[in-house]
Amino acid sequence: MAFAMATLELPDSLAPVLDAVTAVSGPYEGVYLVGGSVRDILLGEPNFDVDIVVEGDAIALARELAKKLDRRVRAHRTFGTAVVLYGEEGRVDVVTARSESYHAPAVLPAVKPGTIDEDLHRRDFTINAMAVSLKGDALGELVDPFGGRSDLEAGRIRILHERSFIDDPTRILRAIRYEDRYGFRMDDETVRLARECIATGHVGNLSGARLRDELEALLSEGDVSHAIPRLAELGAEREVHPHVVADEETVRLFGRLRELNKRYRLGVPPWRLGLAALGRGLPHQEIGPWLRDLKLRRRDAELIAAAIEHGPRIAAELGRDSLSPADVVALAEPRAPDAPLFALALDDQRQLHDYFDRLGELKLEITGADLAELGLAESPRVGEILAEVRRRKLNGELAGRESQLEAARELVEQP
Ligand code: CTP
Repeated sequence: MAFAMATLELPDSLAPVLDAVTAVSGPYEGVYLVGGSVRDILLGEPNFDVDIVVEGDAIALARELAKKLDRRVRAHRTFGTAVVLYGEEGRVDVVTARSESYHAPAVLPAVKPGTIDEDLHRRDFTINAMAVSLKGDALGELVDPFGGRSDLEAGRIRILHERSFIDDPTRILRAIRYEDRYGFRMDDETVRLARECIATGHVGNLSGARLRDELEALLSEGDVSHAIPRLAELGAEREVHPHVVADEETVRLFGRLRELNKRYRLGVPPWRLGLAALGRGLPHQEIGPWLRDLKLRRRDAELIAAAIEHGPRIAAELGRDSLSPADVVALAEPRAPDAPLFALALDDQRQLHDYFDRLGELKLEITGADLAELGLAESPRVGEILAEVRRRKLNGELAGRESQLEAARELVEQP
């Protein structure tokens, strides 16, 4: 029986790129816009990334497309994929339609070329398993074999088949991410299968790097007030680490950390603050191994560990004593910005606001070159004297260059 296919209005913002794809689509069996691009068009959300699936040679199409748009193409022969960059921030990913088979749970699948139906079949959720044809007579037709459009309208996140989470447990974290981002919810069956998959240890079996990528993506979303308790409710937080705490206090702490990070323009990636908030209950000797397992970059791991271990200590020490500004800097600076930021989020102390407001950035009007002119040869003593002059300046002495030079001269002359 013939029936009318839904035809989509494609957004004007993508018209130049999509028209170019259509113009070069002739030699290929099928050419489609897929996945998140289609979902976001239907939701009316801006999305500059364009995902194209080709029934045929993706790299050949990408080369034609790049020529047409007068852009460069980057091809990955081994994967049969290619990227064309356009405009300020847009990218077109072109891949060959493929079918996948999973040989073991939580491990990446074997892939081979396939049809668009097979390609949609291997995807995570119905709302991500739609395509729009960009070719010839079929231009604009929506391919929606699993009812993704009606799930999108109902705000429902639904997997395509029973084994989906077992095949790829990162999908559980993706589902939680979409729940927060769009205010959607998993349907009952999807939740049941997620719980079952977590309870059988499949999330715990993921490689550290895959788990890290998903946590980073989750913690980089704008609002995670639902996602964090959801991790606990489904039992996933114990799989991230038995001492991870994903409760309302984590949400509050993470919110405060992000607010302060923004206010003082510290530029700490939000996921780093989120991992510190989630990991705040870890016994100290387990923090290092946990972060190593997640395969974080060393510097990130050190700063997260510093926040968890030293943040509470900084807060406690500030609360106990009346410290001079130089003492506050000495306490905060060695592990800045994460540890003092964590301390401030735990306990809103004026001295730490002062640190982020001005103390941390306070510079001297003299440098090592001035000490050389005073006759001091290069040695550790140069650093010591500059540190002492800075300490005095922090405490409100030595306002200008002259008084700093004078103090330096006295220190140089001291035996
Ligand atoms: N996908 C999947 N299973 C995964 C990851 C991705 O099935 N574990 C599929 C989905 O169809 C998804 C597409 O691959 O739409 C592209 O993945 P990705 O770029 O990570 O997500 P987007 O859908 O583009 O969404 P966003 O990046 O906004 O989360």
